[in-house]
Amino acid sequence: MKSILTDKWVLITGASSGFGAAAAIEFARRGARLLLGARRVDRLAALAEQASKEGSPQAVFHFLDVASTPSVNEYVEWVRSVTPRLDVLVNNAGGALGLDPVAEGKDSDWETMFQTNVLGVLRMVRAALSLMLPYPGGIIINIGSVAGRTAYEGGAAYCAAKAGELQITRALRLELCGTGLRVATIDPGMAETEFSLVRFKGDAKRAAQVYEGVQPLRAEDVAEAIVWVAERPPHVCIDEMVIKCTDQAAVYKVHRRTKG
Ligand SMILES: NC(=O)c1ccc[n+]([C@@H]2O[C@H](COP(=O)([O-])OP(=O)(O)OC[C@H]3O[C@@H](n4cnc5c(N)ncnc54)[C@H](OP(=O)(O)O)[C@@H]3O)[C@@H](O)[C@H]2O)c1
Repeated sequence: MKSILTDKWVLITGASSGFGAAAAIEFARRGARLLLGARRVDRLAALAEQASKEGSPQAVFHFLDVASTPSVNEYVEWVRSVTPRLDVLVNNAGGALGLDPVAEGKDSDWETMFQTNVLGVLRMVRAALSLMLPYPGGIIINIGSVAGRTAYEGGAAYCAAKAGELQITRALRLELCGTGLRVATIDPGMAETEFSLVRFKGDAKRAAQVYEGVQPLRAEDVAEAIVWVAERPPHVCIDEMVIKCTDQAAVYKVHRRTKG
């Protein structure tokens, strides 16, 4: 599929599952070159192979832990050894841990959520920006959440982290105005990925309950939105996009079908 993205360099963090993996395939179909990052490199290897079959002329991967500054810097050094140019940076790595009220919150959960969703985005942008600035028309797409816009019980740290992501996006949009680089946030609602399995630490039954009786977003729905935002002409910046499944009108207003 011929596209403005054909032969462009696209970096996706958190590409080993969910939105990141689905976005890699959507970009590949448009002939984009892919730089994939996550901690589970075995999955990245399989994804890179699939992306090549889907039309990416070059799909490469490397270990990335966005929670670590040395890892991010080492990753971007590797990127530099592959290409001097970056056109699209998708800061997608992140997620939630636990659904505890603040009174019962765990330091390790809070710290991980801030390390990935907030500091991970800052680290990636700081490290990768010099590869983007010489090429006006590029775009940074951060994956936020409706949780960054509306609080819910048990979500204090995750909501705060995604609100942080939203404000980072807004600050970057201002800082980069005049460079020709665009900055966007895509903020999904409920989507069925590994998100809930990770949040509930492998409890598959509890994770499945989140989507019971609902038709949630699929990873592909969000991936299509990511690619659409990246594919706009260089003078068009979709600053902020909220995308929810039809059954979810608001964080708390979810239509669930009962069985039988
Ligand atoms: N699904 C939803 O309902 C939903 C809604 C709104 C927003 N979001 C956001 O969308 C993004 C993607 O989530 P998803 O739904 O696709 O969930 P997912 O399937 O669990 O994917 C999360 C991805 O992030 C990566 N990741 C996590 N920690 C990382 C780290 N320290 N370093 C590098 N990569 C890391 C994971 O890879 P490794 O474990 O291999 O490192 C994985 O590829 C997240 O930012 C999430 O907060 C999700």
